[in-house]
Amino acid sequence: MKKLLSILALVLLLCASGCSSAGMMMDSADNNENAPALDITRPIHPPADFAGRRVLIAFFSRTGENFEVGFIEKGNTHVVADDIAEIVHADDIFEIRTRAPYPDDYQEMTRIAKQEQAAQARPPLAARVEDMAQYDVIFLGYPIWYQDLPMPVYTFLESYDFTGKIIIPFCTGSGNTMTGKEDEIPHFARGAQMRPGLGIQGKRVHNNPDQTRLEVMSWLSSLGYAN
Ligand SMILES: Cc1cc2nc3c(=O)[nH]c(=O)nc-3n(C[C@H](O)[C@H](O)[C@H](O)COP(=O)(O)O)c2cc1C
Repeated sequence: MKKLLSILALVLLLCASGCSSAGMMMDSADNNENAPALDITRPIHPPADFAGRRVLIAFFSRTGENFEVGFIEKGNTHVVADDIAEIVHADDIFEIRTRAPYPDDYQEMTRIAKQEQAAQARPPLAARVEDMAQYDVIFLGYPIWYQDLPMPVYTFLESYDFTGKIIIPFCTGSGNTMTGKEDEIPHFARGAQMRPGLGIQGKRVHNNPDQTRLEVMSWLSSLGYAN
């Protein structure tokens, strides 16, 4: 009887340790899945063909009353632009602003944006990048407006010679995707080469900046950024 009890105890012990180690394996597998693609506390290296090349983050983004997020003081695309700038140690960040700012009121601004799109307008910009010639890689951010880039972003693209430069688009929108319009960017940005972009849901950027940062890191890692 005593022998039977000790065998039973041994079986229970083995089962308990087996179960707990399986549990640990599951946890660590989960952790790996959620682990950031890059560790921003350690140096992050650019893809080999970006090495030594200067990086500019250029973005257009709107404050005021916005889709699904109420009144915001920092636009969704601006949040993503800042994340990218910090992670890749960009040389500069440039905000594309129109000379006539868009109204804070959502209805009013959508009316203007629609008109501009219908007219394929090129709203004048408030400032130029001082010396575009010095940059080789340009991360270009914008919100999706009516399945397209906002018209001021076209003004920006048509204002410079992008020969020999790489444009990497990123956008925010009501969903988590790009529209395909980004494929046409080289048609407006003379000479530009493209790399795969990122589309992120604006509401998620606003409500969950930590998750956004993970998505940005995972995309940058797919572009070749690594620790
Ligand atoms: C005028 C206007 C048109 C929009 N059209 C679209 C659209 O066609 N598709 C979409 O996914 N989101 C659309 N949105 C939602 C914005 O892309 C989204 O709210 C974005 O995150 C805003 O970015 P921002 O805060 O950087 O300006 C539109 C928003 C505005 C203001």
